[in-house]
Formats: sequence, structure tokens, C-alpha cells
Amino acid sequence: MKSINVQATGRSYEVLVGPGLLGQIGTIISPKLKGAACALISDENVARLYADRVIRALTEAGFRPTLMTVPAGEASKTMERAEQLCSRMIEAGLDRSSFAVALGGGMVGDLAGFVAAIYHRGIPCVQVPTTLLAQVDSSIGGKTAVNTSAGKNLIGTWHQPELVICDVDTLESLPRREFRQGFAEIIKHAVIRDTAMFEALERFDGADLAALIRRNVEIKGAVVSADERELTGERALLNFGHTIGHAIERAGNYRDFLHGEAVSLGMVAASQISVRKAGLTEVERERLIRALEAFELPTRLPSDFSREKITSAIRFDKKFARGEVRFVVIPAIGCARLVDNVTIADIETAVKLL
Ligand SMILES: NC(=O)c1ccc[n+]([C@@H]2O[C@H](COP(=O)([O-])OP(=O)(O)OC[C@H]3O[C@@H](n4cnc5c(N)ncnc54)[C@H](O)[C@@H]3O)[C@@H](O)[C@H]2O)c1
Ligand SMILES: [Zn+2]
Repeated sequence: MKSINVQATGRSYEVLVGPGLLGQIGTIISPKLKGAACALISDENVARLYADRVIRALTEAGFRPTLMTVPAGEASKTMERAEQLCSRMIEAGLDRSSFAVALGGGMVGDLAGFVAAIYHRGIPCVQVPTTLLAQVDSSIGGKTAVNTSAGKNLIGTWHQPELVICDVDTLESLPRREFRQGFAEIIKHAVIRDTAMFEALERFDGADLAALIRRNVEIKGAVVSADERELTGERALLNFGHTIGHAIERAGNYRDFLHGEAVSLGMVAASQISVRKAGLTEVERERLIRALEAFELPTRLPSDFSREKITSAIRFDKKFARGEVRFVVIPAIGCARLVDNVTIADIETAVKLL
């Protein structure tokens, strides 16, 4: 099995991508982790579909998993849930030699990763992402977090996974809209880093999804290795389309748009800014828009959606309130740059044009 190594401070971790991996999870983990007791953390949707298979595979390899589920949805990514999970782990007798397995999408990955980071000052976490977004993006890089009423991901810590296991078969049960939104991050990776992958996406027919996921893991892995704690600006390039995307998510009360859909719109707006400020050609911008459309991602805001709400969400953004406008632009497809000559007025114009 071909694996990808992601370098983190002091150690590296493997990311496995392929079919049928859930059934082999016990034998995959065995050589890496010795403690028998583990918490299998999942949400109710994912647990219903896959927990039995994972429990069987872990048990057959000599592990003692305790299944702990939370309701599906972003509302479960809270401090209260994290505390409940910790209490259940204490009840289940987990100690410092135990580990957590995060089975689910990015919500479960962030919550279980956070719990693993704080339980007994940190136990290993095996990420088993089951959404396309989680496989190509959130399971890699070690960001963990919970939300508060004041905003998303405000409480969290860095906790690199012990191992990431992406079973591509799990994507078959993913609702179509959830599957499609993952392509926003894939297109983003191509646009910031990989012209050849962008061209491959323009021809993509659904075959060899595992190879596509692997390439995305390599890109995300390389970027986060180069700037593990978001200090040099390299990792910030992953935010292409996200400044405006986050404002769109917020303006839609996190209901109207999925994250990937908001990022798709954010990339369209950021490409307009890139034409004006970074020399992106109109032809390349059109190619980006066509690629997003090919994956049925939105490229125009609904005409009745309040642009005002988006621009006020941007003004609300703490970074801008401090007067610091660092923005990711693309001079061409395949390369991205962090600049500081983009103004709030530029952003507002791009939003009005959406
Ligand atoms: N840590 C990071 O670097 C990072 C990066 C990006 C996003 N995130 C976080 O990721 C979260 C979003 O992740 P997501 O889009 O995966 O959402 P999610 O985890 O909420 O999953 C979306 C829905 O799909 C269901 N689901 C998951 N896997 C399934 C499967 N195989 N079959 C059927 N249904 C399935 C879930 O139950 C849920 O209802 C957000 O909380 C976001 O903040 C984190
Ligand atoms: Zn994103």
C-alpha cells in the first residue's frame, strides 16, 4: 500500500489512501500503537454505517474499542461535547497509553482531535476521515478545535495525527452535495500549487478518485510541513478563497452554503481581485470558473442574497478590524501569493460583482 508521509516537528506521520481500509484498520494500527484501550469517536450517521466494521477490525487485532458517538452536525463541535467525551473516556478506563480513533467528517476529526489533545495531556489520535473534504483537507495538518457561540474554531490546539486512514469506499455513502463540496478544496489545491492537476480536473471523469485524493494529500502535506504552525505565510496560501468564503458562510448563517460552496464563491471573487491586482488573465479566470461549474459548485450568488451581509461580515472579521489586510491572490493558475495591497474596498467590489 502506497502511503504519503507528512513531516511534522520531531516525527512524521503516514496517510494511507485506498479502498477497503476500514476492514484492515486493526492490522494497520497494530505496529504503531501498543495500548489496547481506545475511544472510537464518531457521529451518529457515520457510526450507523461504519462503526461495526471498525470495531470488528480493531477487536480482531487485539484492541479494546469503546464507541462514543455525538449527534451529526456542526452543533456537536463544542466544549460541552468535548468534556462529555473526556468523562466517558475516564469511565471506559482509558489512560495515557490509550488512543482515540476519529471516524467521520471534519466535524468529528476536529472534535476527536481536540479531545485526544487534552486527554491526559495528549494521547495519539488516528484520523479516519469519511468525507471528501476531510480526506483531502481537514484530517491533515494537526488543527483541532471546537466552536463557541462567538464563532467557529475559537478554542483548539495543535495535535498532529498519529496516522491518517482514508478509505475511499466510505465516500460512496456520502450525500452528493457533501461529495461535491470537497471538490472546492481540491480545485483550490490545484489553483495554488499544481497546474497539471488543474488540467487533469478539467478532464476528470470520476475514475481513479484515490489517485486524486493522494495528490491532494501530498499538496496539503507539503504546505503544512513547510509551515506547521502558520508562521511563515506558506500555510496561509491554503486560505485562497477563504476570506470571502468565510464571510459568505457567516452571512448565510452557516445554513445557506456548505463550506466548500462558500469557498467556491470566495475563489471566484478572489480571482476577480487577482485579475486587478496580480495580473491573472481573464482567460485563466474563466477556466477557474468553468472548473468550479463542472463540479456543480456555485459561481454566482443568488440574486436576492444580501451582498451587504457579506461585506459587513468581512468588516466584522478580526483581522480586518486590526487594519491588517493580507489576502491570497493567484497571478496564474498553479501559483498563489500572499499580498498586502488588497483593500477592503477591493473586496467589497468583488463581492458586489458575484
Ligand atoms: N482541521 C482543519 O484543518 C479543518 C479544515 C477544514 C475544515 N475543518 C472542519 O471540518 C468540518 C467540516 O467537515 P465536513 O465537511 O467533513 O463535515 P461533517 O463532518 O459535518 O460531515 C458532513 C455530513 O456528512 C455525514 N457523513 C460523513 N461521512 C459520511 C459518509 N461516509 N457517508 C454518509 N454520510 C457521511 C456527517 O454525518 C455529516 O452529516 C468543520 O467543522 C470545519 O471547521 C477543519
Ligand atoms: Zn476550507
